Amino acid sequence: MGRIICISNQKGGVGKTTTAINLAASLASAERRTLLVDMDPQGNAGSGLGLKRDQLNGTIYEALLNGRPMKELIHSTELRYLHVVPATPDLTGAEVELVSHERREFRLREALRPLAKEYDYILIDCPPSLGLLTLNSLVAADSVLIPLQCEYYALEGLSQLTHTVDLVRQELNPSLKMEGILLTMFDGRANIANQVVDEVRGYFKDKVFGVVVPRNVRLAECPSFGKPIILYDIKSKGCESYLALGREIMNREGRKPPARKVA
Ligand SMILES: Nc1ncnc2c1ncn2[C@@H]1O[C@H](COP(=O)(O)OP(=O)(O)OP(=O)(O)O)[C@@H](O)[C@H]1O
Ligand SMILES: [Mg+2]
Repeated sequence: MGRIICISNQKGGVGKTTTAINLAASLASAERRTLLVDMDPQGNAGSGLGLKRDQLNGTIYEALLNGRPMKELIHSTELRYLHVVPATPDLTGAEVELVSHERREFRLREALRPLAKEYDYILIDCPPSLGLLTLNSLVAADSVLIPLQCEYYALEGLSQLTHTVDLVRQELNPSLKMEGILLTMFDGRANIANQVVDEVRGYFKDKVFGVVVPRNVRLAECPSFGKPIILYDIKSKGCESYLALGREIMNREGRKPPARKVA
């Protein structure tokens, strides 16, 4: 069975999508069958992997609202082991439209169920809010990965997120685990960045990933070329850090190479 990891933080611009794309690419480069599901109406996960909006065969909206099978919404990417289900701005409407649906928090979980055996990892990129789209992602996931930007307000809002995670655990998804906190956009020259790292590690201890993602201009550039960092600049510090994150996640699980599908 594959593992479903939701990448979430209601704070905007902390590196969720950058992490979703590049962690997914890192796992795929290790030949793990990986699916990235975009749950953000901004639709940056698909475009960051080179999908053009006018060439999409369908988006996550159709699975959530119309019950269209996820299989029909999967798009391939330049990486053989990496697939993506994209989103477009119409997903904004889903926040409201879902409200009147039965089992509205379970739509994504139910949509993903038939895919569990097809993938080793399913990553979900969340929007910067704690609405129904994020709730669906937390309910569908085995674990949550929280990117935190190494800056002064890094911890602001984190208690709200951990409270939401606790509520989801109590009410909707008891097996939801913490995959870890990922420190992003680290600038070693800034005192504040070092303080944030110390503070977060002091408080969250082994819940924080060993790897810290540096601020790296190559990571900021690659989405405009529709490529993950591994296909844009494999030698960059940004690429190194996301490959290391992929290894950390694979090692933590003590996974053997996954069994290949026969035929
Ligand atoms: N390590 C990094 N170094 C430099 N730039 C980065 C890094 N990580 C992310 N960025 C840039 O910072 C901006 C925000 O990153 P990203 O889109 O990944 O955040 P997000 O949390 O998904 O944002 P949103 O909340 O809007 O979905 C983007 O322009 C991205 O290219
Ligand atoms: Mg994003």
